[in-house]
Amino acid sequence: MALTVIFLTPSISCSLILISVFGCGECVEVTVPQDPVMQQRGSSVELPCHYKTSVDKNFVLEWRFAPGSTPHDQGKQILYFTNNKLYKPGSQSERLSLLQDLPTLGDASIQLTDLHASDAGTYICEVNNPPDFYGTSVGLIQLTVLMPPSTPVCKGTTSASVGSDAHLTCNSSEGVPSPTYSWTRLDTKTPLPLSNMVQDDKTGNLWLRNISLAFSGMYQCLASNEFGQQKCELTIQVTGTAEAGVIAGAVIGVLLALLLLCGIVLWFLRFRKQKEKKTTQSIYSGNEIREDATAPGISEASLQGESQPENHLLENISSRPASTTSTTKSQLNNFLV
Ligand SMILES: *[C@@H]1O[C@H](CO)[C@@H](O)[C@H](O)[C@H]1NC(C)=O
Ligand SMILES: *[C@@H]1O[C@H](CO)[C@@H](O)[C@H](O)[C@H]1NC(C)=O
Repeated sequence: MALTVIFLTPSISCSLILISVFGCGECVEVTVPQDPVMQQRGSSVELPCHYKTSVDKNFVLEWRFAPGSTPHDQGKQILYFTNNKLYKPGSQSERLSLLQDLPTLGDASIQLTDLHASDAGTYICEVNNPPDFYGTSVGLIQLTVLMPPSTPVCKGTTSASVGSDAHLTCNSSEGVPSPTYSWTRLDTKTPLPLSNMVQDDKTGNLWLRNISLAFSGMYQCLASNEFGQQKCELTIQVTGTAEAGVIAGAVIGVLLALLLLCGIVLWFLRFRKQKEKKTTQSIYSGNEIREDATAPGISEASLQGESQPENHLLENISSRPASTTSTTKSQLNNFLV
């Protein structure tokens, strides 16, 4: 085992040396930027690609594009140059051009104008120059299209009861680099307890825990990156009591009303019974206490009759038994005296 390792290692190093010393006389070396290329949407960008080879009639330059996070081996052809002819298949052709009219002198860079969000992805620069088949003939460039956040969408709990939790979300569909989100409450008069609020500035989530009436109001989410900011709003309505409380309150209210009604009815019945008792007593009992009460009773009735003429007849009718008793009583009185 040890022997093979010892013998293998020098042989690998030897072959590497052989390639680097003798191989590159016949290979195409493509150089592209290692770092991603970044440019703002709407502006132009250059995608540099340089190569070293002695170009002859078999030279072929090809650019391919893999949009977004599509693997680079699935890239589609966007530019093709061979036999002094240029082809630009693909939807970007109008905005795509070679920096050098003839890309045969070591510069195969391209320019893309009026950048769209959809232009972001991997660009592949490939140079073939048979019979040069060794070395790096492919270069990959990552293009990032920078743009401000789009207007975010605010969603979540719009009505909640005291003591419950609320969850709001905020999301911009566009924005490079990824926007950061920050929630604030508009027209805040009293500061909300921070311990009851949790927000995630990367995802745009806002959680409100054990909310009170003070949490009612309009909430605003601001999505921002270095290229701009956009906002959206959402209103939370906090209802005074829990739903169960409302129901319990209603039930108690109805019961109280019923009790009150019963009380009134009972009182009324008792009042009438007492009145009936009084009249029967005054008719059939001829004691002295009733006798005293009758005389002012009449004067009262006549006074009322004067002030309220409509009641006159009623008063007369009602006072009639009293007057008859009074006459019987006065007769009785006379008899006693
Ligand atoms: C935000 O919007 C983007 C694009 O519409 C979507 O891909 C992503 O899943 C959304 N994020 C959340 C948390 O809803
Ligand atoms: C919710 O808030 C109220 C006061 O607003 C407090 O009395 C209660 O203990 C809180 N409940 C929880 C579970 O934190």
